[in-house]
Amino acid sequence: MVIDEKKLVSLALEARGRAYVPYSHWAVGAALLTKSGKIYQGCNIENAAYTPTNCAERTAFFKAVSEGEKEFLAIAVVGGYDTSEPEKICAPCGVCRQVMMEFCDPKTFRVILGTKDGAAVNRTLEEMLPLGFGPDDLYA
Ligand code: THU
Repeated sequence: MVIDEKKLVSLALEARGRAYVPYSHWAVGAALLTKSGKIYQGCNIENAAYTPTNCAERTAFFKAVSEGEKEFLAIAVVGGYDTSEPEKICAPCGVCRQVMMEFCDPKTFRVILGTKDGAAVNRTLEEMLPLGFGPDDLYA
C-alpha cells in the first residue's frame, strides 16, 4: 500500500488539536496507519501526577491494539508549543519507540515527522531505534 504522507500528517495535526496538555503546554498529535488501511489518531494526555501522562504515539497504538489491530505500516507525528502551528519536527521519545518495536517491523515501519507544512522526515523504525530489542529477541 502507498503511504499518503500528506493525509497522515494532516490527521496528526487534527489529533494534536485534542491534546490535553495543561502542564507542559506541549501538544502532540499522531496518526497511525494499519496494513489494512485504517488510521488511528492519538494525542498526548497529561495528568496532575505527571507520570501517568501518555504520549500521542502511544495513545494511537493503544487505541489500535485495543481494537484488535496488530499490523502497522507507518505513523505520523507532529508537536509544538500550545496552539501555535508546529514549525519544527517533534521526535518520538524512547518509550514510544520501544512500543513501536513491539508491534512493527523495524526494517519497514515508517516514522514520519511533520510540521505545519507537511512531512519533513521519513525514517524506518530501525533508523529511529538502532539495535532495538523486540519480541523476536526475547528467548532467541
Ligand atoms: N510527548 C508526546 O506526546 N510525544 C512525543 O513524541 C514527545 C513528548 C508529550 C509528553 C508530554 O505530554 C509533552 O509531550 C511534553 O513532554
